[in-house]
Amino acid sequence: QGVRVKVPASTANLGPGFDTLGMALSLYSWIEIKASEQTGFHLHGDQMGGLPTDKSNLIYKVAQMVFEEAGQSVPELEISMYSEIPLTRGLGSSASAIVGALAAANALIGSPLPDSKLFDMATNLEKHPDNVGASLFGGIITAVWDGAHADYMRIEPPADLGTLVVIPDFELATSKAREALPAQVSLADAVYNISRSSLMTAALCAGRLDLIRAAMQDRIHQPYRAPLVPGMSRILTEAPDQGALGIALSGAGPTMIAFVDRKDPRVEGQLSTYLMETMKSEGISAACYQ
Ligand code: HSE
Repeated sequence: QGVRVKVPASTANLGPGFDTLGMALSLYSWIEIKASEQTGFHLHGDQMGGLPTDKSNLIYKVAQMVFEEAGQSVPELEISMYSEIPLTRGLGSSASAIVGALAAANALIGSPLPDSKLFDMATNLEKHPDNVGASLFGGIITAVWDGAHADYMRIEPPADLGTLVVIPDFELATSKAREALPAQVSLADAVYNISRSSLMTAALCAGRLDLIRAAMQDRIHQPYRAPLVPGMSRILTEAPDQGALGIALSGAGPTMIAFVDRKDPRVEGQLSTYLMETMKSEGISAACYQ
């Protein structure tokens, strides 16, 4: 008997909450695993090209970590995966694969490991808790990671909060987007981000969408990543006047994510047209999804 899990994509940082805040998105991967005589893979969908189909496959390796942690042995697995999450675009595709593999493997052996253990294992693999936390728990999460253990709170997204993502037609490796960051930031920039990240968390808890514009600002990663994403600086400045409550780089980019008020009629037309046209003026084609 196999196990199938459906795992959401995620957006990390939400502007100021670098490596701290994450939110699940309505874009999914499906992973199915079952014990088998011989390990085999069925990878479906456009996003699967180039992934290994032997025991070096991430899903296989992560599943084996679960069995080892639980003191069980399931050496051969039949693994199927389908994903609609674009790779290397800042939408947490690797986090969703890790979380899907952990959750499916754990369920296959009767769920001996609690979610908190899966979260620690996932964060240890990703090295930051924001994407994996959102993929594992859904909704919005705020998390801290001490290098071994993650503590978190899950926040139910406000009912009127919608999102609009603009996905440029090029890939940006997370490693490259992290290498662009400075090792140190100034006290003023740290205060700038702590205050906004705190306000963002409280505003999301209280459903105060009017505070998103002030809260969704960042000085510790986006300014350094802007040269990697043509049009980004302009969009971050201008989008709030085109119908966005706030806008940020999604994770390490290059996707950008706007928070919107679902009731605002400008979102469908004006904001998405503005985002696509601005990317186009930089020579980049992009797709917009709500
Ligand atoms: N918080 C991480 C970053 C997310 O911004 O680098 C990467 O997926």
